[in-house]
Amino acid sequence: MSSDFETLNKILDGRYSCRALHDKAVPIEDIHAIIQAAQKVPSWCNFQPWQVHLVRGDVRDTLSEKVMAAAMADEGVPDVPFPEKATGKHAERRRTCGLQLYQAVGVERGDRAGSRAQMLENYRFFGAPQAVVITTPKELGAYGVLDCGAFVTAFMMAAEAKGIATIAQASIAEMSDIVRETLGIPEDRDVLCAISFGYADAAHPANQFRTERAPLDEVLFVPES
Ligand SMILES: Cc1cc2nc3c(=O)[nH]c(=O)nc-3n(C[C@H](O)[C@H](O)[C@H](O)COP(=O)(O)O)c2cc1C
Repeated sequence: MSSDFETLNKILDGRYSCRALHDKAVPIEDIHAIIQAAQKVPSWCNFQPWQVHLVRGDVRDTLSEKVMAAAMADEGVPDVPFPEKATGKHAERRRTCGLQLYQAVGVERGDRAGSRAQMLENYRFFGAPQAVVITTPKELGAYGVLDCGAFVTAFMMAAEAKGIATIAQASIAEMSDIVRETLGIPEDRDVLCAISFGYADAAHPANQFRTERAPLDEVLFVPES
């Protein structure tokens, strides 16, 4: 019999950012169950700051068209600024996961058109027929964002436990104004990210790699007394 810890680790091990999804809708009951499970995460004073905007059908197609057009025109300003710079191991890890993806899909180093085409898949929601957009109240600042991060992770784990693949996408939040206008999101909320989700096209080249994690001694620091 497996322990709860083993079960939890199995779900954590099974999840990966899925960049090719089948065009098959997830039943609304499953979407409700995933959201209700994710809502169980803790938050500052139990604020539960997240709101989940479900995008499917015509709304999904319209949003996809609009954010694709903006991406192709290199337009877009995220509500929450993207990191200004990444140096050292962060730069290295970003480079590595990008290389892994491009290698998996057969984009050669220096093939700008190829890497751009792969990047634009973000705006097709990687083929998923549905996605959610997560927003936080502006007034709650960084701790609202932190709580929503916990929600995003729990959403992805709950989905994984149901055999549903996911990918979090800041790329959609880069077009915050378009997302806000298309989905009717109030001005007092920040658009944080999307999560595309559905049934993995497990054999697709984009899904053939897994990212690595740092060893414990790069993460855990125990100050001596
Ligand atoms: C908040 C957040 C935003 C992300 N945005 C994107 C994105 O826009 N496009 C993308 O391809 N991956 C995106 N990712 C996926 C990360 O690249 C991925 O989680 C990371 O490389 C680790 O790989 P794994 O999820 O397969 O374990 C995002 C992940 C998070 C948590």
